[in-house]
Amino acid sequence: MNPSLYRCPVCHASLAQDAQTLVCAQGHRHPVVDGLPDFVPQESLNEEQRQSIDYYDQSAAIYDDVADLSFRIQKQDEAVTRREFVKLLALQPDDRVLEIATGTGRDAVNIAEQLGADGLLCAMDLSRAMLLRCREKLADAKPAVELCVGSASSLPFADGTFDALFSFGGLNVFPDVAGALREMVRVCKPGARIVVGDESLGPWLHESEYGRILLHNSPLFRHQPPLHLLPVQARKVRLQWVVGAAYYLIDFEVGEGEPPADFDIEIPGARGGTLRTRYHGRLEGVSPETLALARKAREKSGQSMHHWLDDVVRAAALKALEDDGSSS
Ligand SMILES: C[S@@+](CC[C@H](N)C(=O)[O-])C[C@H]1O[C@@H](n2cnc3c(N)ncnc32)[C@H](O)[C@@H]1O
Repeated sequence: MNPSLYRCPVCHASLAQDAQTLVCAQGHRHPVVDGLPDFVPQESLNEEQRQSIDYYDQSAAIYDDVADLSFRIQKQDEAVTRREFVKLLALQPDDRVLEIATGTGRDAVNIAEQLGADGLLCAMDLSRAMLLRCREKLADAKPAVELCVGSASSLPFADGTFDALFSFGGLNVFPDVAGALREMVRVCKPGARIVVGDESLGPWLHESEYGRILLHNSPLFRHQPPLHLLPVQARKVRLQWVVGAAYYLIDFEVGEGEPPADFDIEIPGARGGTLRTRYHGRLEGVSPETLALARKAREKSGQSMHHWLDDVVRAAALKALEDDGSSS
């Protein structure tokens, strides 16, 4: 374990190792058990989250025996399909990659395959038992490997740490998907690629026999791809349905802030103005008679409605303020 890689998931401060604990300056303590740091805030887990951890801890022993079932039902080759998912990250050998909800590492092995000795793969899961299976699979991996127990809602990493992030199969059970997506973007560098996916039956298949059988057998297929929950930094967003259109994959690039835009470009034509003046410059409405007069006056002036209105309102406002001496 490399303690310098981690940050306190509560306050994002750096951590020092004190015996079998990572501790931040504010005194938040995170145990290290059997070489795995554990960042799950036990005291704030609700009953549902405890049950989820128990469920996955208990599933760990058999997970790898049954995991390909979801792919076989859809007549897909799991290994080939998962490799295609990972290809969307377009990894470079020295990339630093985070996988969230890594489970027993069925995608982690493909991610590790794309990295070289200068690369880093951090794999995180809520379930220690799942992660221990993953550790076995990554024992001979080429890149440096860091494994930690943690929650997608509060990642134990500094802003801008990773070049790529992958999470498949966990989102539908995350308690706060919007928060998890915000955290994913926070820990990624600008330009990083993020790939997320989980069960979601293509809406066009809901009334088919194929769809009805899947929906009858698992409510998870009713989930919709969380496009509306993506942070504003998401760029070049692509959505596809995969594995017989029973799962969605969203991949996107991390940008900075909202998309760049020039809202001050003058719009040609009688109405005139810019997108900014049209949005920010709205006034209370006028009567239909005043509107008709304003249109005539605007036409006579030869100006766009925006410029005519701007001049008229400004002149009237300045005059009103001058009259009572408050214009300065
Ligand atoms: C269905 S398994 C998928 C595992 C793996 N990604 C795969 O495709 O085989 C879901 C995984 O999500 C993990 N998980 C569930 N909620 C989580 C959370 N809030 N934060 C991190 N991992 C979580 C579970 O422990 C479990 O290992």
